Amino acid sequence: MSSLPSRPQDAANAADRPAVSFADLNEMARSGEPIVMVTAYDHPSASVAQDAGVDIILVGDSAAMVVLGHDSTLPITMDEMVMLSSAVRRGAHTPLIVGDMPFGSYEASDALAVKNAQRFIKEAGCDAVKLEGGGTSAQRARAIAAAGVPVMGHIGLTPQTAAALGGYKAQGRTAGAAASVLEDAMRLQDAGCFSIVIECVPSAVTEVIVEQLSIPTIGIGAGPSTAGQVLVYHDLLGLREGRTAKFVKPYATLRDSAIRAVTTYASEVRSGEYPGPEHGYSIEPAELNSLRQSLGQTKAPGRVQ
Ligand code: KIV
Repeated sequence: MSSLPSRPQDAANAADRPAVSFADLNEMARSGEPIVMVTAYDHPSASVAQDAGVDIILVGDSAAMVVLGHDSTLPITMDEMVMLSSAVRRGAHTPLIVGDMPFGSYEASDALAVKNAQRFIKEAGCDAVKLEGGGTSAQRARAIAAAGVPVMGHIGLTPQTAAALGGYKAQGRTAGAAASVLEDAMRLQDAGCFSIVIECVPSAVTEVIVEQLSIPTIGIGAGPSTAGQVLVYHDLLGLREGRTAKFVKPYATLRDSAIRAVTTYASEVRSGEYPGPEHGYSIEPAELNSLRQSLGQTKAPGRVQ
């Protein structure tokens, strides 16, 4: 963990930057320097995020949908999350890495929550964990924090309980509903969370919540007033097919580029253009002759069809 003050912002030297600390996040929120968070689920995406100079990588349970092809975040397991998180840790050293506690890994008891939170730290090398919801989740957050594991909260649209919230839609759109999102936020802060993600909440409601909190907030579809923003890696790179949420801004169209590249590869394999001589390895002619002689051959046979 780094000491303050500040980290160089030169992306070219991102891997040489000091690791982002919890104190850095507080200082950034205090000074108004935006915190950049992105999801990553494997070694290459983690190393891209690090080299781009992001502050926090979230190994989100969105991996269930984004990389494992499920219809919701619910099916992903602790073992899968630990495997993905450890790959991310191997790919990035400077961003703070948060492992997302999957559905079923913390709800039943404080003991279960602490045990699984510790797996993210011990087995995957994460710096912190995240869980969804206020209410009972605030109690679980308190237990996890008391066990020495830094916890991030997540309020508003909480995908693990989306069905109970009426689907994937904005939350806190009436005074009463907004007050309940604020109450969740206050409970999580009181439980010892170091930060809270606010998802799909009207920007003006987020502003009220941010005013009331003293810990840094990270928004997704929650307007500009949070201390930081988070997007899903595959959304921001345009790597997913189909419709994306209103808050997603694609900064590239990598799925189209990938399809073009693989199509060209397929066509070159089929036409014989690939591989060319420059893609092969050589052997000394004498060695080749010796091999052929050992097989009783005197000259190269034609290509086997
Ligand atoms: O799982 C995830 O990717 C998340 C972010 C959308 C905040 O929880």
